[in-house]
Amino acid sequence: MCGIVGYIGDKNAVPVLMDGLKKLEYRGYDSAGVAVYAEGKVQIRKYKGRLSVLEEHLDKEKLSGNLAIGHTRWATHGEPSDANSHPHTNEKGDIAVVHNGIIENYLKIKDFLISKGYVFKSEVDTEVLAHFIDYYYEGDLAEAVRKVIKEIKGSYAFAVITNREPDKIVCVRKENPLIVGIGEDENYIASDIPAILKHTRKTYLMGENELAVITKDDIRFYSENGEPVKKEVFNVDWDVSAAEKGGYRHFMLKEIHEQPKAIKDTMTGRMAKDSDTIRLDDIKLTAEELERFSKIFIVACGTAYHAGLVGKYLIEHLAKIPVEVDIASEFRYRNPLVDEKTLVIIISQSGETLDTFAALKEAKNKGARILSVVNVVGSSIARESHDVLYTWAGPEIAVASTKAYTTQIIALYEIALHMADLKGTLSKEEIKTIKDEMLNLPAKIEKALGNKEEIQKFASKNSGEKDVFFIGRGLDYAVALEGSLKLKEISYIHSDAYAAGELKHGPIALIEEGTVVVALMTQHELYEKMLSNVKEVKARGAYVFAIAKEGNKEVETIADQTLYIPQVSDMLSPTVTVIPLQLLAYYMAVEKGCDVDMPRNLAKSVTVE
Ligand code: AGP
Repeated sequence: MCGIVGYIGDKNAVPVLMDGLKKLEYRGYDSAGVAVYAEGKVQIRKYKGRLSVLEEHLDKEKLSGNLAIGHTRWATHGEPSDANSHPHTNEKGDIAVVHNGIIENYLKIKDFLISKGYVFKSEVDTEVLAHFIDYYYEGDLAEAVRKVIKEIKGSYAFAVITNREPDKIVCVRKENPLIVGIGEDENYIASDIPAILKHTRKTYLMGENELAVITKDDIRFYSENGEPVKKEVFNVDWDVSAAEKGGYRHFMLKEIHEQPKAIKDTMTGRMAKDSDTIRLDDIKLTAEELERFSKIFIVACGTAYHAGLVGKYLIEHLAKIPVEVDIASEFRYRNPLVDEKTLVIIISQSGETLDTFAALKEAKNKGARILSVVNVVGSSIARESHDVLYTWAGPEIAVASTKAYTTQIIALYEIALHMADLKGTLSKEEIKTIKDEMLNLPAKIEKALGNKEEIQKFASKNSGEKDVFFIGRGLDYAVALEGSLKLKEISYIHSDAYAAGELKHGPIALIEEGTVVVALMTQHELYEKMLSNVKEVKARGAYVFAIAKEGNKEVETIADQTLYIPQVSDMLSPTVTVIPLQLLAYYMAVEKGCDVDMPRNLAKSVTVE
């Protein structure tokens, strides 16, 4: 998730762009750049690092022009570097492109263009756009872009300028947001409203597969087949901070609602509808190498550790390889039995968590192969690993991790299915069945997100509670641990999660009249068992909030409150079951007036021991 901006008018575009990029830096901040039409040609200034690095350079040289596009990056393809920063250009440097999204078939197009003599300067998928537009250019920039979008696959919003036609910006959007800001004798484009709010509140929201040609006094929209498109003006009445949160009250709530797209993006290019294989180009593990591993460790901290618990279940269940899950701060000091026959899977959103990084190095020094699941491209953990499978959740701003958790679970499904494919422990049909159901998960999660009323009711009634317990069995126990952590870290309510079968061995002593218990009962095999566990705590006076799959009506007769999630297979349920738990923690924290995005005593990336 990058941020792109553009301006055409009579003002100096550079300060307009820099101001817009500052408002979009929450979308990505590992490198930034601008392309400005100045002194008769397109001039590129782009640097690795925060926007302030670019700003320092621009302040020194006073670059000025009336036509420009800019970009702040969240790396997906190619580590943060000056060369991989946007804008990307063709060889002559007279066509410049900024892009937000992923060009899935960029490797195929790159090979084609190289065969036509084009020379590439970066590892980034976006660069193919600049060369491909050059390849199709015959005097009409919009026409060249139209030809390019017919051949590229993926999700994208990109903008192009060229000094061959220095009176316009051409931009397109498919799946990723792009808006056009309407000015007096000037116009703007941006990935999101905050970037242009200072200048105008009149906007056009670009639709799916639309192309726009923008000059300083005219804006025209076309469908992908070139037909003109008439659009309504969208008047924005949000303030800037609300706009940065996309109209949501907190980044956490925004990120909870971004999960359907984040999961879809994390499957893009790896799981295609019509294929029965999982393509994980980033993992160079062969079947022979996999056979050699006697054991797998999954090592992580906090929420990532909880994703690892689901990963253990998946890899053992699908690929039949024994897995041990370890808390990184324990793993690094307990002299674990790790050697060259060990595969260690490291999970980290930030890729910078010190405990996890140190555990990685400990395992690597012992000869282990390191496969990491990371969200931040080019982070320390990513750079230190043999193989990296990126989650494409985009920047996660709120301290409480939500979309990183569900995309980590998706990445672990992909790894488990890939291993099962390499080992032949699953048939192609079985892999296809699971894959097809995974491709439907975004829709199921969208449905679960629609179920807020029950949760808000529960939160307003119980936000005064001192203790809240979560119980579950199997995968539900792993998800219960995550639900309990979310509640603790943002609402400061004491909470524990127990394997429901373990209650009678002690913790049930904590249950008394009115004790709040959240019971997860989505595992079909274990449903009957969970019913008796719910009866157990009810018998001691507990107030039970049950989360079950649609159609399981019995629990309603026992629990005080029941919330249903859409039907999904047991193994795939964690990414859906966690949604009401994230919302529960959120609404409890809001009820208590807590600082949801910046909870006390916590940091987004824990880089101390
Ligand atoms: C989760 O909400 C917390 N922010 C924390 O537990 C976090 O998961 C942990 O610090 C690991 O962070 P990482 O994924 O960036 O390594």
